[in-house]
Amino acid sequence: MDLKALKKSFADHLFGTPDGIYTAPGRVNLIGEHTDYNGGFVLPGAIDKGITLAIKATGYNTIRVADRIHAFSMDYIEFSEMRLTQTNLPGQSWAKYIFGVVREFEKRGIEEVKGFDVVFYGDVPLGAGLSSSAALESAFAFALNDLYGYGFDKFELAKIGQATEHNYVGVKCGIMDQFASLFGKQGNLIRLDCRSLEHQYMPFNPVGYKLVLLDSRVKHELVNNPYNRRRESCEAAAAAIRKRHPEVEFLRDANFAMLEEVKTEISAEDYSRAKFVIGEVQRLLDVCDALNKDDYKTVGQKMYETHAGLSKLYEVSCEELDFLNDVAKKYGVTGSRIMGGGFGGCTINLVEESKYEAFIAGAVADYKTKFGIDAKVYDVVISDGARRIE
Ligand code: GLA
Repeated sequence: MDLKALKKSFADHLFGTPDGIYTAPGRVNLIGEHTDYNGGFVLPGAIDKGITLAIKATGYNTIRVADRIHAFSMDYIEFSEMRLTQTNLPGQSWAKYIFGVVREFEKRGIEEVKGFDVVFYGDVPLGAGLSSSAALESAFAFALNDLYGYGFDKFELAKIGQATEHNYVGVKCGIMDQFASLFGKQGNLIRLDCRSLEHQYMPFNPVGYKLVLLDSRVKHELVNNPYNRRRESCEAAAAAIRKRHPEVEFLRDANFAMLEEVKTEISAEDYSRAKFVIGEVQRLLDVCDALNKDDYKTVGQKMYETHAGLSKLYEVSCEELDFLNDVAKKYGVTGSRIMGGGFGGCTINLVEESKYEAFIAGAVADYKTKFGIDAKVYDVVISDGARRIE
């Protein structure tokens, strides 16, 4: 899909000529997984794949019905019409995100979000752990804010996207994905403190290495929202520690000794989850130090440690992802781990250029033999965040 097809679809829906075209990307995360909702650090970067939309403001138009959203998804080939005053969620899963973003603007004092016509498409693989949903939220939040001049900064737009997940999708996510989608910068990772939202751009140009994603193409839809349950475990462990150490607001503030003190007071499951998070906060800091010294061996070693923790302690990996991690070791890949929320999706791999071809060919073949699935390969291109293109 391209901009020409987007504009053609816009015209075909009798929306005329768009007022603007906007895009917002998905993200990768080098290290720091499940640390964002624990007040910790993350190290994401926006990628060259995202959601692109053509939009026209209709709220000023007195001839047309001004209180309507008309939205068409080119990927799903589905149309949704929503009234701005409606309270019930729309039927299509993708339309819930648009609905949520609009409601969150209203909660922040925009008395009446005005109507718009929109057509959009995405090239972020769905269910691959690359945050297609954050790209969708950020694209709409950024576009509406710009088009109607609501005047929110990018911090607030990220919170609007996150609140959309919490209140209309039911995922109690952290802020990493929306932040990366809005604040992304070409060639840079973002070292983000998820408590204060202080952030630094870290140029990422590992000479002699490539960063590549292997998409397992499995997404295990599990019952009882396991993501939210992980978060609850972390909060329970932090609450137990806080009774003895009032300064501990989040697990980010705790250390292993504090966790040991409460070991018998919390469940074995909560203990394991917290143990992973406390280790992961430290690993991220170690990786930032290593990056400053161009020490990619250490970066890679920490990535493997993260995978082991996500698999054994946090239990968000699966057979397919563990297999891809083992395959990476077999081909001498410097660092590899499951990326994102888990339960499927991609591994992120830091691989020496000289080993790249053999690794990709070998991993894809081994995976096919074992699971009968063609893994997909995406080279990571760290790109800019949400923006207006036309
Ligand atoms: C998902 C969430 C993020 C973050 C990651 C895990 O992508 O949306 O907020 O918690 O999982 O690091």
